[in-house]
Amino acid sequence: MSKVSLTGIKPTGDVHIGNYFGAIKPALRLAETYEARYFIADYHALNTVKNRDELVQNIRSVAASWLAAGLDPNRVIFYRQSSIPETFELSTILMCFTAKGLMNRAHAYKAAVQANLEKGEDPDAGINMGLYTYPVLMAADILLFDTHVVPVGKDQVQHVEMAQDIAQALNYNYKKDLLVIPQALIQEEVAVVPGLDGRKMSKSYNNTIPLFVPEKQLRKLIMRIVTNSQTVEEPKDPDKCQIFALYKLFATAEEQAQLAQRYRAGGMGWGEAKEALFQVMNRELTPIRERYEAYMANPAELDRILAEGAEKARAIARQTIQRLRRAIGIEW
Ligand code: ADP
Ligand code: TRP
Repeated sequence: MSKVSLTGIKPTGDVHIGNYFGAIKPALRLAETYEARYFIADYHALNTVKNRDELVQNIRSVAASWLAAGLDPNRVIFYRQSSIPETFELSTILMCFTAKGLMNRAHAYKAAVQANLEKGEDPDAGINMGLYTYPVLMAADILLFDTHVVPVGKDQVQHVEMAQDIAQALNYNYKKDLLVIPQALIQEEVAVVPGLDGRKMSKSYNNTIPLFVPEKQLRKLIMRIVTNSQTVEEPKDPDKCQIFALYKLFATAEEQAQLAQRYRAGGMGWGEAKEALFQVMNRELTPIRERYEAYMANPAELDRILAEGAEKARAIARQTIQRLRRAIGIEW
């Protein structure tokens, strides 16, 4: 096992079960086939989170979430971006190999400019250099660890391609494979997890079930799932029901077959289906929630785990930076 995978996690807000099935679980599975590294992109978050306490809270919460979901810090490397000063040195080096025009084409920057133009404002109104150079910092995160694959959602593919361009520009200049060219690994099609209203579960739709809600609230949220007006007697189609779609994520094959049978036979009301969903969901989420709460109650332990990860990560980062410093003529 020698290929490296690297996952960057932006600490913004609470995770929901859509993130859990769509991003966290698939990313954690990579540890079976790659030398997996996971880091909290806290300096990237500074672009959007400018409240101190909120940033601290987000960093701890996202760290606790991934640990609770099964990240094993003894098997993989888990650290904070901000603990690796070499990231920022590499970022400075990469700046000198990054075409300004490349940054002009970044989706996030272009969208911000477009929004300004639509409002009749100056194109760069409210856009800071953190947003503009975001792809360079992300390239540094990736290239510092000789990363082969970066698991990402579709929105991040462009950023990985930019990391490729920047690495190639540097390698070309020194006529040497100094940096590994990373590849985006688009998550295999995970089923879209539906939200309370039947649309895709998303923070932007306000229809989420957060991963760590207390039991009572979990039941309340499930009871709020929107259903149609079929009567109790009517037979129901499990494949056209978001309660069942959620049930499938948590229930055993046997449980699924049984509930599907209840749907088709008629005589089952939505309340009963929701109660069945609550039971299986709560069964899987309870231990995760308890682990999460234990970590959140013990920030010193979280900090210790992240500091240990940072030690391991820095040992690698120092080597990469030394290799580059020598190659570019800063060290000899
Ligand atoms: P949100 O839409 O709530 O803002 P994000 O865009 O932050 O979620 O998503 C983070 C990750 O979680 C992405 O990799 C995305 O593919 C995954 N994800 C988010 N919502 C879902 C969902 N409803 N079903 C499956 N995966 C999801
Ligand atoms: N930009 C990513 C996001 O918004 C987070 C991130 C930062 C990242 N650095 C990374 C992801 C390096 C993968 C590799 O989700």
